[in-house]
Amino acid sequence: MTKPADPQTIPLLDERVTFPPDFLWGAATAAFQIEGAAAEGGRTPSIWDTFSRTPGKVLHGHTGDVACDHYHRFRDDVRLMADLGLKSYRFSVAWPRVQPGGSGPANQEGLDFYRRLVDELLENEIEPWLTLYHWDLPQPLEDAGGWPVRDTAARFADYAALTHAALGDRVRYWTTLNEPWCSAFLGYGSGAHAPGRSDGGDAVRAAHHLMLGHGLAVQAIRAARPDHDLGVTVNLYPVTPQTDTPGDLDAARRIDGLANRIFLDPILRGEYPADLIEDLRDVTGFEHVHDGDLAVIGTPLSVLGINYYSRHVVAAPVEGAEPEPYWRAPSSWPGSEDVRFVTRGYPVTDMDWEIDAPGLVEILRRVHDEYPEVPLYVTENGSAFVDRVVDGRVDDPERLAYFDAHLRACHEAIEAGVPLRGYFAWSLMDNFEWAWGYTKRFGMIHVDYDSQLRIPKSSARWYAEVIRRNGLAAQ
Ligand code: FCB
Repeated sequence: MTKPADPQTIPLLDERVTFPPDFLWGAATAAFQIEGAAAEGGRTPSIWDTFSRTPGKVLHGHTGDVACDHYHRFRDDVRLMADLGLKSYRFSVAWPRVQPGGSGPANQEGLDFYRRLVDELLENEIEPWLTLYHWDLPQPLEDAGGWPVRDTAARFADYAALTHAALGDRVRYWTTLNEPWCSAFLGYGSGAHAPGRSDGGDAVRAAHHLMLGHGLAVQAIRAARPDHDLGVTVNLYPVTPQTDTPGDLDAARRIDGLANRIFLDPILRGEYPADLIEDLRDVTGFEHVHDGDLAVIGTPLSVLGINYYSRHVVAAPVEGAEPEPYWRAPSSWPGSEDVRFVTRGYPVTDMDWEIDAPGLVEILRRVHDEYPEVPLYVTENGSAFVDRVVDGRVDDPERLAYFDAHLRACHEAIEAGVPLRGYFAWSLMDNFEWAWGYTKRFGMIHVDYDSQLRIPKSSARWYAEVIRRNGLAAQ
């Protein structure tokens, strides 16, 4: 968090932290979280439709049936984006909307929705940034085995090519997957996310097939349009040992392997970390990795998206330790279930995630220092807080301070030589926060789910000013 301003030392506000001239200022959403219209226009169920209808899986039984009704209100939403002065909008395509069932021909009605959305963005000079997979696997593909099964990677590449063929004339930035860690380890490990399965080996196989699908999709899209910017978005965490005892250091190494290096090493270096394979010895023998897979997965990218929310601080196992909250549930970490996640008493968001802006500098510098050079974008960063509408306004100083602190972190990374090219706030508007339903608000724009009224919060007005000046006021 930003330190409280000391009036003695604060410089005048006309000095600014400025960003490079072409810095891409954006905001992000995802299809399932905002679109609604779950059964319209030929869309068929995804794993999140099924999961959210399963009692006990999503808080209060909330579903994506209506969400922010963006499917019907996208024009108004683009107008709000234009009012903010967004340079780019990162959204995702719902696979079951454009390829119902997950295989076979495209659904033109589904594609038309995205064509209209993209045209509206372009008319408002907002660069569309398209994510192909933000967790809404068509249900029939899950019924056939889901991501732990190799064929799902081929199905994904097919869907990617079909979507690119339809929208590649007007969209230049393509992200294959959003946060494969969550798809694999929350979806198939802890079961806290759809499809809600719980098997460590399946989670590791899912991670591999997600990456394989990513590599195949990059190759297909690149063959069609070598000039397009292609990448993947990973959620990264600095992993810090609680102390420097050998046990804590080993816990940090393990969790870093399972959270970060399991994706970064195959995707950016074409190899799995040797220590990770060893840590997973009792979970899988990696027989699912075929010759040639890692070359496909390591296909060079033109951008890497990083989502950043917080840091993991970990410690060596202690007998009889308390179980952790759901998203750190033991089976999210196959083979390292007994590592302890500790809190430091830092201020937290409404998700109970500790606010740690220096962690963003750390993770950006690490990717820059340790991996082959690739332009980086923060494709998500933001915070949930409890908001209140008072006299038609929503003041959210904590969210604003969170953005401010993390943008300062971005600036610091750029000064240190990191090729950071853009930043996307999570999220444009309040939306369906997965297992938490509509109870967690991450938006810069407040959504009243009964009336669908949108109110830009004070953080939105502040962000618009940041974009306009291409910088922050100096502290
Ligand atoms: C990320 C997801 C995004 C949103 C934020 C809070 O893990 O990509 O959809 O839920 O967290």
